[in-house]
Amino acid sequence: MRRKLVVGNWKMNGRIAQNQALIEAVVGGVRESRNADYVLCVPYPYLGQAQSLLKDTNVTWGAQNLCANESVALTGAVSAYMLADYGCSYVIVGHSERRMQFHETDDTAATRFNAAEKAGLTPIFCMGESKEERESDWTEYVVGRQLDSIIRRFGAEVLEKAVLAYEPLWAVGTDVAATPEQAQKVHSFIRDRVAKCDAKIAKNVRILYGGSLNPANAAALFAMPDIDGGLVGRCSLDAKSFVAICKAASQ
Ligand code: PGA
Repeated sequence: MRRKLVVGNWKMNGRIAQNQALIEAVVGGVRESRNADYVLCVPYPYLGQAQSLLKDTNVTWGAQNLCANESVALTGAVSAYMLADYGCSYVIVGHSERRMQFHETDDTAATRFNAAEKAGLTPIFCMGESKEERESDWTEYVVGRQLDSIIRRFGAEVLEKAVLAYEPLWAVGTDVAATPEQAQKVHSFIRDRVAKCDAKIAKNVRILYGGSLNPANAAALFAMPDIDGGLVGRCSLDAKSFVAICKAASQ
């Protein structure tokens, strides 16, 4: 049985003064919900704050990106080992906002995925098609290509310690979530593709859904056989909504 996982992606939000109240409300809200795992992926400057407020709770923390290099002259970059120094367990890799606005590619996402694992972090690898790609019936081609960028280079074994996330671009930040059936179809495609390389890893790998997840749609999405939790953007900034989504996962 795969344990459900809910990851909050704060993106570029938060202020030191307000983070504490949000984190404490999340911790208080999920304390008794022991049947799922919870993660907050916060901006780099708040990792220390997250670490001190979340240690010894059932919520872990992580970052939203990393640089694949270690100690080199790269102004503004943050390595996997730096994230590990702050006790991060997870790091998001290949989010569509990074792919689109920072020109990250399948290749660079795969390199960062590998760097995260080498430092002992669990990468949350994001995949998803645009609206135009879906309308042209290219969803499986695009998602398959993104998944293959890792499997071809590093083998399916690297998915043993990873989390996958299906985040259709047309659903991220739009209020138009995929229906449970639409999401399930792609999740099952992803699992089958991993199974072609390694059936045991495919059975165990957690595949999250992301894109306009909210308290009203979470339970129906999480009820699908291949949806193992969620990657939550906007609703992770509101403790009540995020806790409601976490509780739906813990049912
Ligand atoms: P959203 O973002 O929940 O605000 O749609 C999801 C994400 O980008 O991970």
